[in-house]
Amino acid sequence: MKYSISVSLTHNFYYLLCLAILASTVSTNIQASEEEVMVSGELTTLFRSARKVISVNQALINDAEKGDKGLSGTVVIEKAKENYQAAAGNELDLNQDKNGAKQAMLDAVNEVMTESQDWINEKGVGFKGFLPAIFARQVAEKFSHKMEGKLKIKLTAPKNYVRNRANRPDKWEHQVIEKKFRSTDYEKGKPFFEKASVKGKSAFRYILPEYYSESCLGCHGEPKGEKDITGGKKEGGKLGELGGAISLIIYE
Ligand code: HEC
Repeated sequence: MKYSISVSLTHNFYYLLCLAILASTVSTNIQASEEEVMVSGELTTLFRSARKVISVNQALINDAEKGDKGLSGTVVIEKAKENYQAAAGNELDLNQDKNGAKQAMLDAVNEVMTESQDWINEKGVGFKGFLPAIFARQVAEKFSHKMEGKLKIKLTAPKNYVRNRANRPDKWEHQVIEKKFRSTDYEKGKPFFEKASVKGKSAFRYILPEYYSESCLGCHGEPKGEKDITGGKKEGGKLGELGGAISLIIYE
């Protein structure tokens, strides 16, 4: 009798211990992902804010008459910060910058713009091919290189709409795009995130859908297959349709 009581006490003890361990891991997981969701929101917003500087200045960049476009790294960073503040509702806070990721993004923007000066300032050339998506790809590559093993960002698109093979969605991105973003009841503009492994490494993954606006359709719209100004083939995309996604990986 005595023996059986002590056994059940021991059992209870282990049971409670297991519960306590489980509860503590669950709560740290939730905390970790809250921070990851916040960081992901900030970084993807900053990425879009920088790209927007290029899209609102596209006519200026394409101006054949004008030499210096005044779009140095410093200027683009300042404008990107303004766009960030307008989009996020608060200033970009570089004091709270885990792993230096926000600063790395700004450095990447600065480098891309510095390296592109001859390209965008060439007089006598109208359309130069310096486009938001090309700027974004270069910034993403530089950022991901700087943050190697910690974070990675990428501009991707639905598989059948990808122009540059370097932007192809991976399996996880493809699944989210097709099964969630493209489903009719998915809330527009809502990011999707979860813990997932990337090539065997555990990570937090975050992906934000983007849609074609009128300004995109000159290149990505109809008629499908017709050449656009860049010499590429139009996708046949429609206004408001899912056109791309910004994908972020935070390795754990
Ligand atoms: C002047 C033509 C042009 C316009 C306008 C344009 N794009 Fe693109 N887009 C391109 C080209 C060219 C590429 C390939 C870039 C590269 O080589 O990385 C591209 C790439 C992309 C990509 C990356 C995936 C891929 O296909 O490689 C996305 C996403 C995208 N565009 C979305 C948009 C959206 C959204 C808009 C409107 C806000 C837009 N584009 C406006 C020409 C254009």
